[in-house]
Amino acid sequence: MTPDRNAPIGIFDSGIGGLSVWREIAAMIPAEQVRYIADSAFVPYGVRPPEEIRARSIAVAGFLIEHGVKLVVVACNTASAVAIDELRATFPQMQFVGLEPAVKPAVGMTMTGRVGVLATPRTVSGDRLRVLIEHWSDGVQVHTIAGNGMVELVEAGALGGEEVDRVIGPILDPLLAQDTDVLVLGCTHYPFLRDAIQTYVGTGVRVIDSGNAVARRTLSLLQHGHMLHERGKPGSIELFTTGDANDATRVVELITGRAMPVTHVDV
Ligand code: DGL
Repeated sequence: MTPDRNAPIGIFDSGIGGLSVWREIAAMIPAEQVRYIADSAFVPYGVRPPEEIRARSIAVAGFLIEHGVKLVVVACNTASAVAIDELRATFPQMQFVGLEPAVKPAVGMTMTGRVGVLATPRTVSGDRLRVLIEHWSDGVQVHTIAGNGMVELVEAGALGGEEVDRVIGPILDPLLAQDTDVLVLGCTHYPFLRDAIQTYVGTGVRVIDSGNAVARRTLSLLQHGHMLHERGKPGSIELFTTGDANDATRVVELITGRAMPVTHVDV
């Protein structure tokens, strides 16, 4: 059955980090309606075993699909790396857009021949990132680092200041010592820390992420499937969380600068 072109796009993440992807989608395809679920009761995913991440991804994607979305964006590098195959096998009728760290563009940009990839512990230790790097590195040294504690900062609405520098400093210092000139943000929470990261690493390091590429992929799938929304005016976003709705509402406003209500759901 062809999905209804005026149905919403579904987006999920372990938490509110995937809103960095939503921002890109909303900027590129503003007419789309979006239904977003943050699996906040289980954030962070990046320290959990793969089986648990798969089970949670299937549960929250299932919620979106039951609520009539036409396509699901997995706005989480960790869930994409660990669960995208299971998601496609569980919901064969649904199209999924997954994310992967922007290793390919980073390799094309580096002048020093050294690229850093910052991602969650699960993404860093997984085969998918290793294979991606083997495929695209083309002689460039690509170092991976786990951004321990960074997701928690964003989930708490801490985007800058001493508290943030105390966490990112020890993570970024080894990269700076290696003459890295391109840093890939391989977790969708990290773009909310971009200003703090960029200030810390200085202007000699380019900081990139995959948000724009995911928005382009989403647009292309919708165009090819004749599924673009017909509305001429901007769509809106409905937000759900498996965690505390008041906490989520407060932090969503802090990180996006927009007051948007979040509804709790048990999934
Ligand atoms: N935002 C997610 C990612 O892109 C997951 C962060 C986490 O929950 O550990 O990897």
